[in-house]
Amino acid sequence: VVLAAGHGTRMKSSQPKVLHRVPGGSMLNCVIRTAEALSPETLTVVVGHAADAVRAHLGADTTVQFALQQPQLGTAHALLQAAPLLAGRTGTLILLSGDVPLLTTATLKNLVSEHCGTQAAATVVTATVERPFGYGRIVRVDGELARIVEERDASPAERQIKEINSGIYAFDMAPLFDALSTIASQNAQGEYYLTDLIAIYRRRKLVLKTVLVDDPQEVRGVNSRTELAEVSRLVRQKKNEELMASGVTLVDPAAPYIDPDVEIGADTVIHPGVIIEGRTRIGAACEIHAHVTITNTEIGDNVTIKSFSLITDSRIDAGAQVGPFAHLRPETVVCEGAKIGNFVELKKTTLGPHSKANHLSYLGNATIGTKVNVGAGTITCNYDGEHKHETVIEDGAFIGSDSQLIAPVRVGKGAYVAAGSSITHDVPAGALGIARGRQSVVDGWVERKKQGSSNKATSSRKDAGKPAH
Ligand code: UD1
Ligand code: CA
Repeated sequence: VVLAAGHGTRMKSSQPKVLHRVPGGSMLNCVIRTAEALSPETLTVVVGHAADAVRAHLGADTTVQFALQQPQLGTAHALLQAAPLLAGRTGTLILLSGDVPLLTTATLKNLVSEHCGTQAAATVVTATVERPFGYGRIVRVDGELARIVEERDASPAERQIKEINSGIYAFDMAPLFDALSTIASQNAQGEYYLTDLIAIYRRRKLVLKTVLVDDPQEVRGVNSRTELAEVSRLVRQKKNEELMASGVTLVDPAAPYIDPDVEIGADTVIHPGVIIEGRTRIGAACEIHAHVTITNTEIGDNVTIKSFSLITDSRIDAGAQVGPFAHLRPETVVCEGAKIGNFVELKKTTLGPHSKANHLSYLGNATIGTKVNVGAGTITCNYDGEHKHETVIEDGAFIGSDSQLIAPVRVGKGAYVAAGSSITHDVPAGALGIARGRQSVVDGWVERKKQGSSNKATSSRKDAGKPAH
């Protein structure tokens, strides 16, 4: 069961807290992924505040079942709402918190084996931290877990305790829901605290255990934007260390922002300010220069991406070069050894092997063959205001600078398009397509113009300086 019904008042957000993102996804997604790794019989998320938004966020194809907590009266009350969905079930219930995103599967597995091995009624995951502020404290009597006291209800002496409650537990289902319904709300927040269950179990002489995590960072809870930023930094730090250990050079390990699922090959160099998101895979020996953003993209070996490029949902094959200032929009394929230069935008376009579009172009809905040269300022006019149309440029074609290719249109194998052409009809293989105003030359025009302007001083002709044709 994952608790995700709270508002998260301290976030000061119109969004429910658990939908706020850390690298790799929303906090709730991170927790659900960890839970799924245990292959639970059922997975229940307790929703309440902005319940529809949380349900929608998890999508229609989720295997999660939802329990509704309305109103939100505290963590004990939240867990009770899952009781009807779990009626008749026995065994172990693992309780996770939607705002503790860094928890690892390894810790959960350890929790399960300790809990089952000791046949405890409840096992609490705890951590020893230097700054326990804000967490529930673990109160021990003769070394045994006796109760958990919340920060706001703690005495000054209890506030000195450095062992904290992570909000992650394993429970034997048998006594759980009955005991939960006996919890009262006489505390500083007037809420039904799940943590009160511990004292109740102790009175009933049920077995209570704790599992201490090695790395207290793993159970950091997120209650504010500051904590969200701190937890996010921890995720990035861990990822960056893993990448460096696997042979990736990070010029400044504090500077790139790389999502946890990103894969990068050895000897690739990542410069400062680079953002790599989603399911992106980058090959070996690539160089990603400063301030490049790459999302959900597949990149081969030996690729260079120059500064300030933005690349989304695309594929770039081995040996290609992209940027600076390139914009690769979804469904772009840059084939082996191809080159995209500065201020070039591609969308739903394949640029074939060893082809080039080096300067100032828009290429949309285009299929471009091998060794094609796309001149500076070329534009595929793919949109007629209602529909998108395809442009095909076959192998070895040469598109002169400042040409417009008005789609649907095809430039055949090896054909040339003269610079400055507006191509509205197919250009067959081997042909030259030229479609521009003819140049005329007016001999002696400048001299006549000068005379015209000296006349102007006396006659003030209004059209002085205009071309003489
Ligand atoms: C809780 C624990 C505290 C522990 C800390 C660890 C209690 C009373 N306190 O405190 O001992 O150290 O977590 O991070 O349990 N929620 C609901 N419904 C509610 C209230 C909360 O679903 O009515 C959910 C929240 O969405 C959140 C989780 O429960 O995901 C924890 O709630 P929160 O208010 O953040 O508890 P803490 O004060 O952090
Ligand atoms: Ca919390």
